[in-house]
Amino acid sequence: MTSIRSGEVWQDTDGEMINAHGGGVLFHEGTYYWYGEMKQGETYLPEVNKSWGGTRVDVTGVSCYSSTDLMNWKKEGNVLPPVKDDPASDLHPGKVLERPKVIYNAKTKKFVMWFHADTLDYAAAACGVAVSDTPTGPFKYLGSFRPNKGVWPVNVTEADKKDPKAALARDLERGQMARDLTVFVDDDGKGYLFAASEDNATLHISELTDDYLKTTGKYVRVFPGREMEAPAVFKRGGRYYLIASGCTAWAPNAARSAVADSIWGPWKELGNPCQGDKADITFQSQGTYVLPVGGKSDKLIFMADRWNKDNLPDSRYVWLPIGFEGEKPVLHWLGEWRPE
Ligand code: DGJ
Repeated sequence: MTSIRSGEVWQDTDGEMINAHGGGVLFHEGTYYWYGEMKQGETYLPEVNKSWGGTRVDVTGVSCYSSTDLMNWKKEGNVLPPVKDDPASDLHPGKVLERPKVIYNAKTKKFVMWFHADTLDYAAAACGVAVSDTPTGPFKYLGSFRPNKGVWPVNVTEADKKDPKAALARDLERGQMARDLTVFVDDDGKGYLFAASEDNATLHISELTDDYLKTTGKYVRVFPGREMEAPAVFKRGGRYYLIASGCTAWAPNAARSAVADSIWGPWKELGNPCQGDKADITFQSQGTYVLPVGGKSDKLIFMADRWNKDNLPDSRYVWLPIGFEGEKPVLHWLGEWRPE
């Protein structure tokens, strides 16, 4: 590719359609690595998902592509292949593997992948973690878990604790739900998990252990009842930003943005970052990641998926530069542009 053309078919350097959905990009030693869900095979509506229309494709792995210019992407392969012969494995084709994100741990020199690991009915709502010595894998799968078992968030109220019907208290012993998620590494090397929790109603921000393989048990509930999905996090001018979506299955909705001086909040909502035609449906897409060009924070790219619920492998990519009006991130449609 010689430019970024959102919504069109994007080909890799072999001329094949890029297959990296719900993904994220890691910039490491001068190279960008784009990881995403491989979506291939038949799109179907399982019986158990009929009530909410959740079509799917079987899990076929996590793809990785590399590039130095964000336009020419070389396929590095399937870095977390499915486990076809064990129906109990999180990586079995019949499970759910969504929104993989890879971060680099400078202390352990490992590449750590987090993703949403689930059962077909989305009831497991867990995090899967895999690790590799190289950005191009193969990643070794460590397993899945629900974060923050047995601990209350730092901003829990007495009322939250006493409400046994509320998801937070219900999930205390089992661990808190984690569906749409992302991971973010701060300038000081601390890692954080942002995950849609409490039946998707409330986002949880959890501190990661120094090796980025687990959560420490320190976490905060943010945007209670706002149903934030598709979280994407970045830092600019020393402040933390979030762009997220609402919760409408594969259908696009209006994005939201928010800012905070501390990752622990308070977070202030700044409204829909999109402006112009189709701003109310994020230009027919749902965010997945914010990519700082060159690993620096002044040039930011909003990465999103234009899901095709009837043919998920043909879901396209929407990438747009992020502008600012004061402190508010702003997105305009740009049909064709180049990162420089
Ligand atoms: C919206 C989420 O953001 C996606 O990752 C996926 O889980 C779909 N829902 C499934 O309908």
